[in-house]
Amino acid sequence: MQNQSNAEQIEKKAKRARTWRGIGIRLLLVLLFIAMAYGANNRIEITNYTYETDALSVSFNGYRIVQLTDLHNKIFAEKNAGLMQQIRDLNPDIIVLTGDFIDASNHTNIQAALLFMQQIVDIAPTYYVYGNHEHYLPKSDLSSFEEKIQEFGVHFMNNETIQIESATGQTFSLIGLDDLSLQANILKTLADEAPDDFQILLAHEPQYLRDYYAESGVDLVFSGHTHGGQWRIPFTHQGLYGPDQGFFPKYSDGIYTEGDTTMYLSRGLGNSGFPLRLFNHPEIVCVTFQTVPSEPS
Ligand SMILES: [Fe+2]
Repeated sequence: MQNQSNAEQIEKKAKRARTWRGIGIRLLLVLLFIAMAYGANNRIEITNYTYETDALSVSFNGYRIVQLTDLHNKIFAEKNAGLMQQIRDLNPDIIVLTGDFIDASNHTNIQAALLFMQQIVDIAPTYYVYGNHEHYLPKSDLSSFEEKIQEFGVHFMNNETIQIESATGQTFSLIGLDDLSLQANILKTLADEAPDDFQILLAHEPQYLRDYYAESGVDLVFSGHTHGGQWRIPFTHQGLYGPDQGFFPKYSDGIYTEGDTTMYLSRGLGNSGFPLRLFNHPEIVCVTFQTVPSEPS
């Protein structure tokens, strides 16, 4: 009798230990997931590209363009101090912003976008084109935002072309395409009227690479919008979902070419309606020009 009661006691103890072990393992997995998710959404990666070209003057050799996109009102740690330091360390000649710096889905915070704009202009000349989210704002809010960022010194590039000059006075054309004009013929006109043969386009949405961007003859495109596909298959450039492209989008992030046009597609910095990135760190893109002599014809 005594033996049976001891055996029951031992079995009960073992059962309790197994239950606690199970709880501990589940808790550990939850904590690991939280840590990984926090890292995936807050540890910013820099992607460096070298663009080799014989179409630019040697005075642009080593010229550096930093691209940022899709901030969606996010403020990184210490009021963006680390983010700004990472950008400053890249020593950019110019900075290009390709839209969705304001989020209009469920956490609109214009002040966050203004803080970013005020900080970024201190680093290098900054050129900004709108994404879809800026246009979801009420017109009056958008005009007041536009006015303020131009006072900070941000160059507003919606359907505008500007000539970028090297230290010795050679130029290329930087064209900004407003997200509302993506399906219009405005890009062709902008490219035809641009004063330089070498043209760089800022356009928020990547899925028009073949039909519009390459067709217009621009050399380079900086684009965003996909957030890297939000959840990504590790060690690949394949994202799970891209707005306007659906599941397993053709354009998730990285470098794409169509004819003579090269497109850099950034994963961006923030999130919109869906708050979580997985295997998909926020990204700063940095492109350095390497000029090579053109081949004799
Ligand atoms: Fe976006």
